[in-house]
Amino acid sequence: MSAWKNTTTSYGLISILIHWVSALTVFGLFGVGLYMMSLSYYDPLYQSLPWWHKSIGLALLAATIFRLVWKTINSKPAHLPEHSKTTVRLAVSAHHMIYLLLFATMTSGYLISTADGRAVSFFGWFEVPALISGISGQEDIAGDIHFYLAWSLMILAALHGLAAIKHHVIDRDQTLIRMIKPH
Ligand code: HEM
Ligand code: HEM
Repeated sequence: MSAWKNTTTSYGLISILIHWVSALTVFGLFGVGLYMMSLSYYDPLYQSLPWWHKSIGLALLAATIFRLVWKTINSKPAHLPEHSKTTVRLAVSAHHMIYLLLFATMTSGYLISTADGRAVSFFGWFEVPALISGISGQEDIAGDIHFYLAWSLMILAALHGLAAIKHHVIDRDQTLIRMIKPH
């Protein structure tokens, strides 16, 4: 047994690490995304910030795929006995929705980047080819979709975070603790 894996009562260190690093990354990408769109062409960050946004976004995509694989080959922490069926259903639906929004946001971001047929650089290390390009209005449509999906993801993630804090502060149960400290 090791603390790295999930158990039937708690998340393990790998799941915990990916959860918190992903959470910070999602908030960061959102902030950087909005900020970079406000820059003028002559700003020194005009070229570099989108490069970082896309590279980090692709890293998040890889981490999220790994996360789902890790989730399926691991034990599942059982729902806490004090939670009602409705609470559990709401939480699980929110988690599924977050995964869905993550993939949809990242895919639409990729489609903005590949609209003109250019590949996406992964930290200058290698390039992810433009598999889908040249659809009429692709850049604008994918851009609008990316914007609304990113907002939806932020709102849902914020509600999800508030729910976790409510469990900790008001209900005083183990919900938040077991996403922080394996036991
Ligand atoms: C301050 C913000 C956050 C807090 C306090 C928080 C807290 C938690 C807690 C306590 C759980 C475990 C829930 C359970 O056992 O039923 C959880 C699960 C989860 N969180 Fe967060 N979270 C936050 C932000 C985020 C963000 C930004 C994302 C988006 C990437 C996210 C994605 C998820 C997902 C997908 C799960 C389900 C994990 C699984 O597959 O079992 N969380 N979160
Ligand atoms: C969950 C991850 C992501 C979040 C939360 C996010 C968030 C954002 C936000 C808020 C904007 C500003 C939108 C606007 O003001 O119109 C933006 C822009 C952009 N994002 Fe992302 N993004 C993510 C992942 C990605 C990925 C993976 C890529 C590409 C591989 C990408 C490519 C872009 C591009 C090219 C823009 C410029 C938009 C345009 O030209 O219309 N994003 N992103």
